[in-house]
Amino acid sequence: MNLFDVYSLFNITPVRAEGCYLWDDKGTKYLDLYGGHAVISIGHSHPHYVDRISSQLNRMGFYSNSVVNPMQEELAQKLGDLCEMYDYSLFLCNSGAEANENAFKVASFHTGRSKIVAFEKAFHGRTSAAVAATDNTKIVAPVNSFHQVEFLPFNDIDRVEQVLSKKDVAAVIIEGIQGVGGVNIPDYDFLRALEKVCKKFGTLLILDEIQSGYGRSGKFFAFQYAEIQPDIITIAKGMGNGFPIGGVLISPEIKSEKGMLGTTFGGNYLACAAGLAVLEVMKEESLILNAKEIGEYLLNNLQSTISAKELRGEGLMIGVEFYEKISAIRLQLLKGKNIFTGVSGVNTLRLLPPLTLSKKQADSFLGSLHALLNSS
Ligand SMILES: Cc1ncc(COP(=O)(O)O)c(C=O)c1O
Repeated sequence: MNLFDVYSLFNITPVRAEGCYLWDDKGTKYLDLYGGHAVISIGHSHPHYVDRISSQLNRMGFYSNSVVNPMQEELAQKLGDLCEMYDYSLFLCNSGAEANENAFKVASFHTGRSKIVAFEKAFHGRTSAAVAATDNTKIVAPVNSFHQVEFLPFNDIDRVEQVLSKKDVAAVIIEGIQGVGGVNIPDYDFLRALEKVCKKFGTLLILDEIQSGYGRSGKFFAFQYAEIQPDIITIAKGMGNGFPIGGVLISPEIKSEKGMLGTTFGGNYLACAAGLAVLEVMKEESLILNAKEIGEYLLNNLQSTISAKELRGEGLMIGVEFYEKISAIRLQLLKGKNIFTGVSGVNTLRLLPPLTLSKKQADSFLGSLHALLNSS
């Protein structure tokens, strides 16, 4: 059997990883500024993480959500404490798209409405409703397109107010920072106005923090820069540091009912062990602060050393937009400098390293990028 061929692959085969580094099958070492697509939060193969998951596996790997699992409660407690959303409730699932699907469902149950508002360039996942709320027609199949989704321009509160005033919108969904769309940070005034307009018309506000959350922005959630309180927050990626886990944080005004959501694998014992290890390491090693400091250091130094079209970012979620296509730069960084980076669109280099990135590692990237741009 062959693999269903859907991924454009870089020609490397990583076989080992530690901290911010990957090694391929030929023994070459790479600095990982891609973090497996914003997933590696506490660094690869962190000893506490490895120990938490392997000792859990030795005790018990799985049982279903039909029994009491105290690790889920511990995870909710520790997450609430670290992100300071103490009175929210947590629903656990397996991925980002699934978190958004469940968020839409909660919003629809709560409001009795079925329409969703999303924003231009948004990415919310590839399952049915999540992909319908993603601004990329190429990945929406006919079966996904019956969802009622309206896309509005980013940062345009008047258009949002106009649409919500019809009182038929269940939820507005917005990324804390748009990732796939190009590392676009919403105006904080816009987010504050969005919160008010949603309240005014009985629409729930969903913050998709799947990529920008879990400390990446230098705050636990990127929306916390705007000091708003969304009704629903979705999380995944950094939450499990590579172990599949996602979650939906739900405000106390929204009531649960038995059976309204459910999953076989969501919040399983191994996923909880991974999630707990991540939170423990993030706290113990002050990784949110590190993301803020190293992110600022990178942005400031990028500003002074290279001439880009635009630099955007918060913490360790950084977009470097060039005038030209960056596929060659990205390949040269990988093959010539052994540095793995991400991309948004065709001309934005996207940096999503582990939150453990050190100043020395940041310097190594800055020096390599500078040398590469000056040699071409
Ligand atoms: C903002 C955002 N939402 C949702 C998703 C979907 O997450 P997953 O691939 O885990 O389904 C992604 C993935 O890149 C994302 O960046």
